[in-house]
Amino acid sequence: MRRSPSPERFHLIVTAPSDDLARFARDVKTGLTASPKFLPCRYFYDREGSRLFEEICRLPEYYLTRAEREILSEHAEEIVARGSHDVTLVELGSGSATKTRILIDALLRHQKSLRYVPVDISRAALEESARALLDHYRTLSITAIAGEYHDGLDRLRAIIDGPKLILWLGSSVGNFERGEAAEFLRRVRATMTVSDRLLIGIDLRKDRATLEKAYDDPSGVTARFNLNLLARINRQLGGHFDLEAFRHRALYDEEIGRIEMYLVSERAQRVAIDRLNVTIAFAPEEAIHTENSYKYSLAEIDALAEAVGLRIERQWFDAGHRFSVNLMAPS
Ligand code: AVJ
Repeated sequence: MRRSPSPERFHLIVTAPSDDLARFARDVKTGLTASPKFLPCRYFYDREGSRLFEEICRLPEYYLTRAEREILSEHAEEIVARGSHDVTLVELGSGSATKTRILIDALLRHQKSLRYVPVDISRAALEESARALLDHYRTLSITAIAGEYHDGLDRLRAIIDGPKLILWLGSSVGNFERGEAAEFLRRVRATMTVSDRLLIGIDLRKDRATLEKAYDDPSGVTARFNLNLLARINRQLGGHFDLEAFRHRALYDEEIGRIEMYLVSERAQRVAIDRLNVTIAFAPEEAIHTENSYKYSLAEIDALAEAVGLRIERQWFDAGHRFSVNLMAPS
């Protein structure tokens, strides 16, 4: 048994079963019987997928993590100095929460103690990151919310009564369609009072070569991350995917401004998935669409903020101007 995080300073709220197998089954069946085929990207993040994502973040080609860390390190002081005193730090999609430390360090230079409220779909990631953070920070307390963003947001009002700094890092917004992103940010906005701030990391539109390399690295980590979806179906749903018979593809659609990831069938094949009672037929070169990762121009960031009742108080870039971190306030 693993040691659970320090009991006095750790509280966990579970809003939904963390890995709802029935929902996974339903979503896989829907996606693989649709035309064209698709799988929701939220299912990338089982234990193995989360590990592979951390590995992606260390790839030289995946500039996003490094660029965002550069910005946070450079401007942490200004980010927290602009906020209220004694804030609660909220983080949407906290994952391993490694970049969060930069902001925790900065906040703890301004306030004696800090409450951190991470919201993440992975209960395991929450417990693991909480343990590491509580070991490191004596004056930190954590109320972790295991669940979907929406359910997490719904809980915030009941558990936080002071000013908050809400983090949404890593360009996670990129997984939303542009309209959905606005809809979701409106819900975030609805939880904010005038003194609250939202710090959101957003990847920028850029040249195709840089983007396609970031999502199709030569060492094949992103390919393994993508293919892990099929491995997960094999593990959890009794699938019979031959991982050698599919290959990873990442394409940038310049007009739409998004990376699209696919798993492409190398040949005609039929794949049974026992627990779904289906057999899925693939034509040669038929693709399963597994992820969209939207990129934003500065004008698109402005429009997004404006559309949801937020104003961009400050905006920072890395030296290479590849990535943005935006401090947003209610307008
Ligand atoms: C976690 C959604 C921000 O889109 O860059 C990384 C996921 N997919 N490599 C991204 C991802 C392939 C990542 N986000």
